[in-house]
Amino acid sequence: KPPKQITNEPVKAFDSAATLDWDLLRASVSKFNNASLDVPLVINGKRIFYNEGNRSYHQQVNPAKHSQVLANVTQASEADVEAAIEASKAAKAKWYKMPFYDRAAVFLKAADLISTKYRYDMLAATMLGQGKNVYQAEIDCITEMADFFRFNVKYAAELYAQQPCESSPGVWNKAEYRPLEGFVYAVTPFNFTAIAGNLIGAPALMGNTVVWKPSQAACLSNYLLLTVLEEAGLPHGVVNFVPGNPVEVTSKVLADKEFAALHFTGSTAVFKQLYGQIQQGVVNDLYRDYPRIVGETGGKNFHLVHPSASMPHAVLSTLRGAFEYQGQKCSAASRLYVPQSKGAEFLADLAGSLSSVRTVNTSASKINGGDLHGFMGPVIHQQSFDKLAGAIDEAKNDPELEIICGGEYDKTNGFFIEPTVIKTTNPDHKFMSTEFFGPILTVYEYPDAEFAQICETVDKATTYGLTGAVFARDRDAINTADEILKYSAGNFYINDKCTGAVVGQQWFGGARMSGTDDKAGSGNILSRFVSIRNVKENF
Ligand code: ALA
Repeated sequence: KPPKQITNEPVKAFDSAATLDWDLLRASVSKFNNASLDVPLVINGKRIFYNEGNRSYHQQVNPAKHSQVLANVTQASEADVEAAIEASKAAKAKWYKMPFYDRAAVFLKAADLISTKYRYDMLAATMLGQGKNVYQAEIDCITEMADFFRFNVKYAAELYAQQPCESSPGVWNKAEYRPLEGFVYAVTPFNFTAIAGNLIGAPALMGNTVVWKPSQAACLSNYLLLTVLEEAGLPHGVVNFVPGNPVEVTSKVLADKEFAALHFTGSTAVFKQLYGQIQQGVVNDLYRDYPRIVGETGGKNFHLVHPSASMPHAVLSTLRGAFEYQGQKCSAASRLYVPQSKGAEFLADLAGSLSSVRTVNTSASKINGGDLHGFMGPVIHQQSFDKLAGAIDEAKNDPELEIICGGEYDKTNGFFIEPTVIKTTNPDHKFMSTEFFGPILTVYEYPDAEFAQICETVDKATTYGLTGAVFARDRDAINTADEILKYSAGNFYINDKCTGAVVGQQWFGGARMSGTDDKAGSGNILSRFVSIRNVKENF
């Protein structure tokens, strides 16, 4: 039976000293600050460190202070990946034959451990390693992670409880939800520790075993997550942790006959490449099954403001939707459409609010020095910094673009990019359709009377279709946007920012080039990791 009471884990408020124990958080932050940890591979529960044999390591640095190495991450060799695949295969039978209750207990217990005993270590590892402030870490590696684990249990229990097949006199039919035959490959991103939790957790809960390639930039928190799952009772071999060179690890995994599913969150370019590689494998009879492909990739998400909207609300929502976590959410707003009659005031208010945000952004010491409240932190790494700085430079030289605020960047100590708002005179400008994955927002002011036309323009520019928001009090305007933008966003918000989907409440994922729209935080995703067998018995 589904557990009776599954509710969302409460966020311990950013600004409320009463709910977070700041001393414990500071202690965890300084623990990771003062150690350069060795992160091993974990294959069948066995730790393998880079200094055993001839393995290399990757240095995970603090993006707010790149001279600081947080972790030396062991890199999997081809033989290690092979061993991880074999460990997944070997652990499978025992794991899926375990009663669902036992598998569920692991994830329920892990959710409790994350929100209690390991709360501050998880926060600190995510804050330091992935450049988050405490609020962004809290809504990620604590509340969303616990929610994924608990709600997945609820949805899985509901799925298993269903018996949708009709029977008839003398005939008994049943549907059996088997795990996929073979193993699942989880490729997880840097930007949400919780997403990594769900990419491994959802298939594992359904009885699958997993080879896990974490992002190189998130291994500190991701390894901690695995140790918490083990403490909660996850048997050896169910999830095998193989950080390493993405191309090398992936090629080895996708060459295995028993590869059964890809569970992916990351860039559109990489997903397209893997999609093609898997299709090719099918054509070449490489696999036993047609592998399931479940992916969530990029976004170029819109905020569309109607003249009837509450402007202060739309400004604040845009500030948060575009710039929280430095815009490094696939869901982040990165294009804004405002009516001409309100444009100047809107942009002045936005720039004014951002000026206070910027002062926090420019000091590399903020996170390391223990300022846990800063709104903006660094972007994740050099490559991302270079891409964003390059886009800002391009904007400075483009006559169709005008920088309204921000536009500075500094990597002396950490990878800091100012929150930058760019106005364009051309709604079809590539800045209105290119994903930068950082704190850059491009704005177009449309004629007030042309709301329906601007909805069409927004849709036309939408290659990703992940999230979007309309701000309006006029119901006709809301309906117009809702209708015209039907396929422009898998998560469509009315009078709210386009980020921050809550597990169980706003099922998350988009269509078009943003992914396979399988909806994390819902029962939908779980059904992608089962293979249904129908059994008929005559009496
Ligand atoms: N699920 C995350 C959000 O909605 C990415 O912001």
